Amino acid sequence: MWALLVLIGAAAVSAHLQDHAFDEQKVFRVIPQNDEQVEIINSLASNIQVDFWQPDSVALVRQKMQVDFRVDASDAFEVEDLLKESGMEYRVLIDNLQAALDAQFDSKARGTAHSYVKYNNWETIAAWTADIAAQNPNLVSRSVIGETYERRPIYLLKVGKRGPNKKAIFVDCGFHAREWISPAFCQWFVKEAVETYGKDTVMTTLLNNLDFYVLPVVNIDGYVYTWTTNRMWRKTRSKNAVSSCIGTDPNRNFNAGWCTIGASKNPCDATYCGSAPESEKETKALADFIREHLSTIKAYLTIHSYSQLLLFPYSYTYKLPSDYEELNAIARDASKKLKSLYNTKYTYGPGAQTIYPAAGGSDDWAYNQGIKYSFTFELRDTGRYGFALPESQIKPTCEETLLAVKYIANYVLEHLY
Ligand code: ARG
Ligand code: ZN
Repeated sequence: MWALLVLIGAAAVSAHLQDHAFDEQKVFRVIPQNDEQVEIINSLASNIQVDFWQPDSVALVRQKMQVDFRVDASDAFEVEDLLKESGMEYRVLIDNLQAALDAQFDSKARGTAHSYVKYNNWETIAAWTADIAAQNPNLVSRSVIGETYERRPIYLLKVGKRGPNKKAIFVDCGFHAREWISPAFCQWFVKEAVETYGKDTVMTTLLNNLDFYVLPVVNIDGYVYTWTTNRMWRKTRSKNAVSSCIGTDPNRNFNAGWCTIGASKNPCDATYCGSAPESEKETKALADFIREHLSTIKAYLTIHSYSQLLLFPYSYTYKLPSDYEELNAIARDASKKLKSLYNTKYTYGPGAQTIYPAAGGSDDWAYNQGIKYSFTFELRDTGRYGFALPESQIKPTCEETLLAVKYIANYVLEHLY
């Protein structure tokens, strides 16, 4: 078995030409049950290119928890043999990743025009931010809160009926580039706001009394890169001083126990925390905006995928937040709302205990700034498609998520003073 590991250790780094880049790549789900099996996964990870779909899976593996990972076509069969031989509990989640990625585009809508039921590229989303604001001047306005490493403007939409002294809820999407369902939700949210204002009583009340700051894509450079070059990219695209590896994990880059746990100091890792808190222009722009609007922002919602989770602080420590009881009750009730539409089941709780400790996240940072209602959503699914969620699931995913977001927003509104 160990000879086999050495053998597969010779795997080449794959070229990132899209279209065929992920041909025959497989995604495995494993649950190591003993120390020997933990060792096997660790050796695999150090010998061949293993892309863990949960960040910091090394820690998860150590705790004998379930992890999903992607391997190159050239390694796939040997990896499976190895897993079989080891007696480890495993499943092939995705048999041919390229086929799954091609199958993402299964929506009936055609063409490259903007669509709420398709994945839109950045150019299309950027144009959409201008259009939706121009078409709804009474409800939506667009601003630029900074620019990305590659100098793209970071757009922010303010959604709400104009009025004095309004409190606000901040919602962001697209922290992690490959989580495409996330930007789709931010677009959906704005669409629902403008389409149901004046019709849906809850939405009308929300928009009359609150503003929503919606940041449709935080990590724009990374998102562009997933469209042009590598669909599985997660981080930003900034150059690192001491390494030829690119990018920082934006959700490890905030000043909340920064880089103390569940984050890496190695620029080549998927959870690289960056050279300092807010080293990334994107996280700095977001944090600056929130700091400047601290007196109005009462809730912070950040949308990721996948796993179907509703998380709240803390993730950088196992310590419970002082508002634990209240946040837990909100997460419970929001999950229940979400489930009421299509029976989609969410797990909820403090990040560290519910999934894994991971410092430097925006949710913990926002909470420590005094924004009590701070939540991270991990949208569909639980691994059948993972990041390659088909477009046909955009609508149901966004509809159910909207119920949870509206529930939280309404709760916040009712507890403003
Ligand atoms: N999947 C997300 C991530 O790893 C979860 C974030 C939970 N919050 C946190 N502060 N770690 O970035
Ligand atoms: Zn994420």
